[in-house]
Amino acid sequence: MSITLSIIYLIATVTFVIGLKLLGHPETAKKGNLISASGMILAIIGTLFLHGFEDVPTINYILIAIALLVGTILGWIIAMKVAMTKMPELVSLFNGFGGGSALLIGLIEFSNNVGAESTEKASSAIASTILSAIVIGSITFTGSLVAWAKLNGSMKDVRLPKYNLINNILFLALVAFSAYIVVLNTDSLLLIYVLLIASLIYGYLFVAPIGGADMPVVISLLNSLTGIAAAITGVLYGNMVMIVGGILVGSAGLILTFVMCNAMNRSLTNVIFGAFGGGSDVAAASGGKVGGTIKKTTASDSAVMMNYANKVVIVPGYGLAVAQAQHVIHELEEILTKKGVDVSYAIHPVAGRMPGHMNVLLAESNVDYGKLIEMDDINPQFSNTDVVLVVGANDVVNPAAHNDPSSPIYGMPILDVENAKHIIVNKRSMNAGYAGIENELFYNQKTSMLFGDAKEALTKLVAELKNM
Ligand code: TAP
Repeated sequence: MSITLSIIYLIATVTFVIGLKLLGHPETAKKGNLISASGMILAIIGTLFLHGFEDVPTINYILIAIALLVGTILGWIIAMKVAMTKMPELVSLFNGFGGGSALLIGLIEFSNNVGAESTEKASSAIASTILSAIVIGSITFTGSLVAWAKLNGSMKDVRLPKYNLINNILFLALVAFSAYIVVLNTDSLLLIYVLLIASLIYGYLFVAPIGGADMPVVISLLNSLTGIAAAITGVLYGNMVMIVGGILVGSAGLILTFVMCNAMNRSLTNVIFGAFGGGSDVAAASGGKVGGTIKKTTASDSAVMMNYANKVVIVPGYGLAVAQAQHVIHELEEILTKKGVDVSYAIHPVAGRMPGHMNVLLAESNVDYGKLIEMDDINPQFSNTDVVLVVGANDVVNPAAHNDPSSPIYGMPILDVENAKHIIVNKRSMNAGYAGIENELFYNQKTSMLFGDAKEALTKLVAELKNM
């Protein structure tokens, strides 16, 4: 490798590290993304022109150029069009593509290094690396596609009888079969295809039973696996940028996985083997009876209550993103602040449908970051809060997490809004949230329900407050 290319790879690696660091805060995230992307472009250009592929036929360059062009155009169109609420689906799909690339590289390199195309026998280390790329890439590929299908609602949770046992046996069989192929030192493509199909099936079976509120954890775990698959292919090519980039994605994904597990008070094994689900299964699993009468309120009554409050805390949730009401909620906050009310936002780590969803959403409307208070810091403040305004949030304020041991969300830390003096909940109906369970908060004596689409309801609230 030329010294220029080594320097280019070093620069690219540094941009990944700096970019990742900057991604840690909403204010700097955009810059971080751009810096890392520039590093990646630099690494691609460097590889294409300085790697010394003199004997590579021109047609290969043409094919690479077409692939780059098609990928760039498609990526651009998808990124420009995707709604914020669909981001987790997109991330899942991209994870799947990453895994798919690793498995294809594994297949090609098996032919080149071990199979028919190889000139000499590969070492066990190379063979193991190739098989790891195939196995991890395949699991990530089908697992991510299943996650994508579940998130867009086209697939329901599938739980075979004894699914944990089946999955564990299949996983151990995959490891044993891979080891057998390495020890056998075989160039049989048939065995590789059997391994490939078994890994694809395992990817499906691994994600199929997991559902509901555990999906973000699974997606982040798959993201981490994509990184590991990329790092393994980097080892195959002895390419430092691929190795470092893969390790960064792998470790960042793993850290995020554990952060989310902590936010939901679950262990990773419990997420993977517990099949905490969504939809009807979860509703059935919730043993606690929820009921009583609800109190409806109007925009004008809510406006009066907030107008005379000293302290108001806004709890944004998934419905705020659906309604795209981030700008009007900021307007509401500004009007209240001008009236001397102390206003802040309570941010639950898994509110919405992706990590940091509420931060990103509120950043879009230029809400001051200082007003976004994390769960652990805001919870002690609810007891001296006059009014909590819950907008399109449900699971993250569900007291069943504290009170109902039979609830599937029991033990998950929540925003303790019921400690406030008054609670106004805005949503369209009495429908459940993502976990598919009832919420006793709506029947609390202190709670008033402000029914309607968040954007419409908040616009009316703003109009009422302006008239006061
Ligand atoms: P949810 O519990 O999903 O509740 C959202 C509520 O918003 C719904 O009950 C819905 O009620 C209401 N809503 C929907 N559209 C609305 C609109 N246009 N206007 C007003 N309200 C609207 O949301 P949450 O409290 O943010 O909790 C997030 C859940 O998603 C958790 O269970 C979490 O584990 C899970 N999850 C999180 C992530 C990440 S990483 N954040 C990813 C996947 C899943 P109506 O239909 O009655 O309006």
